[in-house]
Amino acid sequence: MDLKSAAYSPELFAACGQELCTQLETYLAEKHAREGRVTPVLDPPAMIAAAREWMQTTAPTSAEGLPQRWSAMIETMLANAQNLHHPRYIGHQVPAPVPIAGLCDAVGSVTNQPMAVFEMGPWATAVERALVNALGEQLGFTAGSFAGFITHGGSLANFTALLTTRNVALGDAWEDGVDVPSQQSLILTQADAHYSIARAAGMLGLGTRNVVKVGLDDRRRMCPRALRTELEKARDAGRKVIAVCASCCTTPIGAFDPLPAIADQCEEFGVWLHVDAAHGGAACFSGQHAHLVEGIERADSVVWDAHKMLFVPALCAFVFYKNPVHRFEAFRQDAPYLFDPTAPGMAEYDVGLQTVECTKRAAGFGLWGVWSLFGSDLFRTLVEETFALSHQFYDELRDSVDFIPLHEPQCNIVVFRYQPPEWSDVPLEEMGLRQLKLRRALIETGAFYITATKLDGVGALRVTIINPLTTIDDLRGLLDAIRGFAR
Ligand SMILES: Cc1ncc(COP(=O)(O)O)c(C=O)c1O
Repeated sequence: MDLKSAAYSPELFAACGQELCTQLETYLAEKHAREGRVTPVLDPPAMIAAAREWMQTTAPTSAEGLPQRWSAMIETMLANAQNLHHPRYIGHQVPAPVPIAGLCDAVGSVTNQPMAVFEMGPWATAVERALVNALGEQLGFTAGSFAGFITHGGSLANFTALLTTRNVALGDAWEDGVDVPSQQSLILTQADAHYSIARAAGMLGLGTRNVVKVGLDDRRRMCPRALRTELEKARDAGRKVIAVCASCCTTPIGAFDPLPAIADQCEEFGVWLHVDAAHGGAACFSGQHAHLVEGIERADSVVWDAHKMLFVPALCAFVFYKNPVHRFEAFRQDAPYLFDPTAPGMAEYDVGLQTVECTKRAAGFGLWGVWSLFGSDLFRTLVEETFALSHQFYDELRDSVDFIPLHEPQCNIVVFRYQPPEWSDVPLEEMGLRQLKLRRALIETGAFYITATKLDGVGALRVTIINPLTTIDDLRGLLDAIRGFAR
């Protein structure tokens, strides 16, 4: 068989697919059994060199040997992966995804359903619209009277929503550019908001200096009293507030801003409310935790990442607009070769009009597949179990003599320090540095993967319990491992 025929051969594809599934089955079983390292040895130059070595400089002359080569390639990929399916992966806000979601994504990849116009990804568009409707209703928006779409990640989602409010607030900024004198327009957010908010302000020409950080309460949530002060200050100075950006929840400690009080003030001052619910939006699936996002249905725009707490592979981020008219405010462009005037009704389904992307991956297949196969109650279970385990971990930290939790968790993010009695005289800065060193030592062993953060400038350890197979014994093992290193 010549190489072109081999590249498009259904038989070779099937053989490679079966080999892939066999290897992934073994991989998942091993990780679930806690075998091997969580994080591979992190040597970027060696990895890059090894990857380059695989890329054949002399083309093979026949298809012979391709299945064996494929098998070895998969082994290499799995051996060098970060292992989110290992229950001792307790790191960033990136889940051990429901594996079958990856198979659903594969359907989109193999058939290639790029979506800018409905015609190029009809089922992908239908799936996206169905998910937008179902998730938006779950958030509390009124069925049939809101809009939304999927985009490539929470950062791009925040950017697109803030571009929309900038265009709405500043009239002709899309056409004329942002020519307001510096210091004129503001975005109000809170100190722990994700950096993509400030980055969006920079990209939108509003200026990162014009992102004002509203004061926090004692649980690091936006303080409504401080928000009122900033809104009054802006009004008195004649400065336009483009948006109040609330977090549900914040990245460092998972704090949920009090939406009802914030929404009241946004209504009173006539300001756009944007809620970054990239991580915490999923709380609305749980009767027990939905109160955390109470009031989210009053937001003008909401961002929610399914590739966080809905346990699907990256990237699958949603943007919602309470007022469906706003979906066409971000981009006021014509692309005549895409949008056919002979079928004007169809443009409603051409998502390219609403997104930064033109060609867009069929990013909804994984979530749609999991939801359709297992039902949405799975999301409730995953949210409730990971939140409950996080609280149990917090209790263990609080009851220990050598660890201190730095907050009571509202979700599945817990920040803490190792601080045994004999370190009581260690200055705070050095205490923070020791936490970072402990983390580095820990992840280099491959036994656990956790993250670090800084609270008020001082280093701390941080876990996100986002692998549903993690147990309290894994977390106790983590504490013992930290103790061992500290000694
Ligand atoms: C609150 C919040 N917003 C936005 C983002 C950015 O999302 P993404 O990584 O999908 O761009 C994150 C990422 O952790 C986040 O925690």
